[in-house]
Amino acid sequence: MSEKDSLKLGFLGMGVVGQGVWKHILRHGEALRSRLGVGLDLHRAAVRDVSRQRLQDIPVDALTDNPVSIVNDPDIDIVCELMGGTTEALDLTLRAFRNGKSVVTANKALVCEHGTELFDSAREHGVHYLFEASVAGGIPVIKALREGLVANRFSHIFGILNGTSNYMLTRMEREGLAYEDVLVEARNLGYVEADEALDLDGVDAAHKTAILAYLAHGRWISLDEMVVEGIREVTLDDIQAARRLGCKIKLLAIISKNFQTNRLRAGVHPMLIPVEEVVAQVDDVYNAVSITGDVAGNTILIGRGAGQDATASAVISDIVDAVSAIRNGVSQKVLEQEKAFYSRISDGSFIAGLDEIEGRFYLRLSVEDKPGVLARVAEVLAASSISLSTVEQSSNEGQDTASLILTTHTCTEKDMAGAVDQLQSEPSVSGRPVLLRIFDNPA
Ligand code: HSE
Repeated sequence: MSEKDSLKLGFLGMGVVGQGVWKHILRHGEALRSRLGVGLDLHRAAVRDVSRQRLQDIPVDALTDNPVSIVNDPDIDIVCELMGGTTEALDLTLRAFRNGKSVVTANKALVCEHGTELFDSAREHGVHYLFEASVAGGIPVIKALREGLVANRFSHIFGILNGTSNYMLTRMEREGLAYEDVLVEARNLGYVEADEALDLDGVDAAHKTAILAYLAHGRWISLDEMVVEGIREVTLDDIQAARRLGCKIKLLAIISKNFQTNRLRAGVHPMLIPVEEVVAQVDDVYNAVSITGDVAGNTILIGRGAGQDATASAVISDIVDAVSAIRNGVSQKVLEQEKAFYSRISDGSFIAGLDEIEGRFYLRLSVEDKPGVLARVAEVLAASSISLSTVEQSSNEGQDTASLILTTHTCTEKDMAGAVDQLQSEPSVSGRPVLLRIFDNPA
């Protein structure tokens, strides 16, 4: 057991989240000390520009522009990697492990892309790699899967994992604003990631989905193995059409496993969700995760998915866990057992093919407004064994085109993809059909 009166924290990055962690540890230092029996010493932070004014009162002599000096500092016990990116952050994290330091991170892209290497390295060096803040901001979903719900096998996990796109869809829905307008708004509020594709193309949510899928099923699913679509194609017309169908549109992450066939599926896409569903009522930057386990049944967690304070809350939770592990001694046996557990639960599972994934779909087509077009569209769908559920047509004023909004009965992803390709090549259809999925609650 450590004899130290306090453990020292080193930060890689001191942006919005880092400053939040600094602020709350300063505020709650005494309470945390009494909880842990040891103090948390905000020791040093590596930043890009030492002279930049920061909101938190961070002494200048605690700042360095040399991040390697943080991971090599023998005084530092725990490293908080809050710098983002996957190249330098990977190198620094691995160096920290080699130097016997546990690392706490909010870096979902890094965990998703290099999880195996990072976990192996942490285990090899007898330290912990903690990443609660990487998924769903302040919602303790990683703890829920690893600890609170450990008795369960998870047939279904779904949820809203990207706060920015949820904010944008909510603004479109509530205020009747166009996608381009809400994007400007989200940028002005500082919500959109520097690489906007992460939020707008579903990539950020897919990184988080991969992490949850690993925790639930022990297998890293690459983004290539998922259907990943963002919100760029969702228009106000779709949101209003969804409302007429009794639904809201949300960017939903889905992870499901059929334990009979061992088929695993993960994906991220906008979906029409009936308004009475709990997740349909989760708006703005909030996230939600619905977890169905064979023992606990359905559990739904809702909370702030992004932002300084919510993310800092998750980082501090991991710091506390890292401190407890250091105080009690990290057991190599426990780390090995964890690896064996994930390997065991992943054993024999396969990624479901598109011909095995079924669902209902919403399709919006711009078509020529003339006799026989609707019949031809129905014929193309029927040729792929797709049966229509609802049809809504509206003529575009002053043009000889119409907007056709269709919903289908259940069919496979593969059949629908083939039908969309065929429809796109039809002379009476202009542009790429907009395809959205319709949510059926499995829980
Ligand atoms: N860009 C992310 C989001 C930040 O909007 O959810 C939190 O991970």
